[in-house]
Amino acid sequence: MKKKIKISFVGVGFMSQIAHLVNYFKNKNVELFEICDLDENLANNVKKKFNFTGKTFTDFKKMSINETDGVVIIVQRKLISPIVKYFLSRNCNVFSEKPHAYSVKEYLNNKKYQKKLWLKGFTRRHDHAVKYLKKNFKKINNQLGKLNTVMHNASAGNSYLGAKHYVKPFIKKEIKSKISKFPSFLPKKYFKLYDAHINSAIHSVDLFDFFKLNINKIFYSEISNKSFLCTFNCTYLKSNSNITAQIFLSSSPNKLWDEKTIFYFERGQVTIEYNSPLLKKKSHKIIIFDKSKNKKVSILFKNKWSFDEQVKDFVNLIKKKQYKNINSQDGLVAIKDFENIWKFYLKKKKY
Ligand SMILES: NC(=O)c1ccc[n+]([C@@H]2O[C@H](COP(=O)([O-])OP(=O)(O)OC[C@H]3O[C@@H](n4cnc5c(N)ncnc54)[C@H](O)[C@@H]3O)[C@@H](O)[C@H]2O)c1
Repeated sequence: MKKKIKISFVGVGFMSQIAHLVNYFKNKNVELFEICDLDENLANNVKKKFNFTGKTFTDFKKMSINETDGVVIIVQRKLISPIVKYFLSRNCNVFSEKPHAYSVKEYLNNKKYQKKLWLKGFTRRHDHAVKYLKKNFKKINNQLGKLNTVMHNASAGNSYLGAKHYVKPFIKKEIKSKISKFPSFLPKKYFKLYDAHINSAIHSVDLFDFFKLNINKIFYSEISNKSFLCTFNCTYLKSNSNITAQIFLSSSPNKLWDEKTIFYFERGQVTIEYNSPLLKKKSHKIIIFDKSKNKKVSILFKNKWSFDEQVKDFVNLIKKKQYKNINSQDGLVAIKDFENIWKFYLKKKKY
């Protein structure tokens, strides 16, 4: 019998169960081993439900890391980074939810300890539609002419509709764990706002990095508890041309997910319409509009990135001992850009 990959979990709350655990549970190459959660009852119930073979803990420092092949860390976002650091520095294979860190400094500090695998939660660069567009970008560029402008809009809604079957936490106790450090330039009164946008902003900013659009000059930014807006100039590294771009993030008034990126070319435009990874049946769509031919082509993607795929990635990379950061590329540029947008915003506020 083939040896199974032993996976342990730190944090088995909502996201952990509906997105991650359920796919490890289904994977025939995986043995779910130990659980750590501050909520002991939750840990014990999740252990029973998903057949974990090892013990449960409330202190992750007591887990048997030498017997574990990989650790999956799905805790509240401000708590992720210090826990990641603990496991990376003990030579473990780590998967962690986003954001990877709250600042460039924190990210680099964790990265310093990485000897094995560190996969990070999903960003749009892994979507099949996004990868397709990148692969065909040169062809589209030739067809539609120079790229002038890129707009990314996300109106975040509820993508968990119907997620009822999970073990709900029993206690709501105050968490006193070590938390991420905010960047040193950020005044304390902005911590809440920085925290509110970090996840979705990193998602969006990372797309620009993926398409080799290097943010070089920020013109405008407006950050409130309702939305995040930034207009900037970037260099398209493939042709060294200047592009104007905008990111606008808000929460959806009707709770439906609405996210798209539009690339405006000289002679047409390309739109990617996204769906949430949690809405399994819905797909992404790319619409290519050629103005000179007055022709519209829509491409529907039956397969899109999935949590299942991410689980397979982590397990296979552990099996093959491939310790490079394959899944999330780097992620550093996105954090750096997010910090720079904040720096610009704070400077503007002083005038
Ligand atoms: N809920 C969402 O809408 C959503 C969507 C996408 C991504 N995420 C990300 O997923 C992560 C988890 O979110 P969630 O909604 O599942 O939160 P949650 O509160 O339901 O679960 C987090 C769990 O982590 C446990 N935990 C906290 N500190 C711990 C520690 N030191 N040791 C062990 N366990 C600890 C808590 O007890 C809790 O059970 C967050 O980082 C979030 O950014 C959440």
